[in-house]
Amino acid sequence: MHTHTLLRQLQIRYPVIQAPMLGVSTPEMAAAASNAGGLGSLAVGGLSPDAVATLLDQTRALTSKPFAVNLFVHNVPELDAATPEPMQQLIQRLAAERGYILTDADLRLPRLYTYKDQLDVLVKEDVRLVSFTFGCPDDDSIRLLKTHNLLLTGTATSLKEAAWLQDKGIDMVVAQGIEAGGHRGSFLHLGDDLPQQSLEALLQDMKTDIHIPVIAAGGIRDVAGAKKMIDLGAAAVQLGTLFIPTRESQAIPGYKQLLSGKTEMRSVLTTAFSGRWARGLSNAFIRAIETSGIPVLPYPYQNALTTALRKKAQAQNDPEFTSLWAGTELPLTTVADMSATIVTQFGRALADES
Ligand SMILES: Cc1cc2nc3c(=O)[nH]c(=O)nc-3n(C[C@H](O)[C@H](O)[C@H](O)COP(=O)(O)O)c2cc1C
Repeated sequence: MHTHTLLRQLQIRYPVIQAPMLGVSTPEMAAAASNAGGLGSLAVGGLSPDAVATLLDQTRALTSKPFAVNLFVHNVPELDAATPEPMQQLIQRLAAERGYILTDADLRLPRLYTYKDQLDVLVKEDVRLVSFTFGCPDDDSIRLLKTHNLLLTGTATSLKEAAWLQDKGIDMVVAQGIEAGGHRGSFLHLGDDLPQQSLEALLQDMKTDIHIPVIAAGGIRDVAGAKKMIDLGAAAVQLGTLFIPTRESQAIPGYKQLLSGKTEMRSVLTTAFSGRWARGLSNAFIRAIETSGIPVLPYPYQNALTTALRKKAQAQNDPEFTSLWAGTELPLTTVADMSATIVTQFGRALADES
């Protein structure tokens, strides 16, 4: 029932959403997912308005189908100018030991763009679908986007967060289970109070009180898993990790290889790369930060401090010094699929059901 509402609202054929994945997903991936009948997502969290416009142009050159534009909706905390130093020095030292030279400029905190800087370009470019994580836009921003008829999808890691989004008039909600790769979208419970419910438990919790369509995300790696989530009340599924080894992904070869068939590897929750809890494969950088005893800076400052190092490591195809976000469930196949194949495989199976 909810699936039909969602398909109509999003104007797509299959209830299959390619998760936005900043640093991994691409205009090619979003377009391939949408052209195959699912919903592609373009990740633009923290990017400048000009970069957003360019990515929109690139995606629109490849598809005329709907796709979502995904924002990071968080507040930037104040940072005492003195606090970054110990972490800056640690990162510089770890980088040097690995053979990467970081200059002071590499470690300077850059201009940080928030979702508010991106609203004008979304409206001007006539974006129809926006999804977001790490919070809820403020009332003025919601009003602006709704005035321009944008459909809004939030991310919740607890019933409390889903109810909050629903009360704010958000149209749909992604239920993000603890299995999910990448950052936890949590925004009402920060610090040690991180929600860690499984996707299944989260969907069960949401069944009674959440009336907007719920999209299930986290640890879905096969059709049986997707069907189970639909049976539990989800209107659609959102898949992330499965798309990382695809041809359209910009993940480095070393990262793709770790996700292709090495099913014994397990991901961990860490704040080491960004200052926010995120799930990824453990590596040398995470272990060094976590055993250093030096406090990790709050998001987005820690993220900014590790950006240059991650770029250098990626250029060298070095998976030990860049983030390897991945869910608890890794792809079953050893073959790097195409994004379209994943969407049609899940989409056809789910369409047979409804
Ligand atoms: C590499 C990677 C990057 C991600 N980046 C984003 C992002 O930019 N925005 C967002 O809303 N979610 C992001 N996520 C989380 C996904 O939206 C989704 O919750 C998750 O991938 C689902 O779990 P799965 O990876 O087990 O399929 C990311 C996930 C991964 C694996």
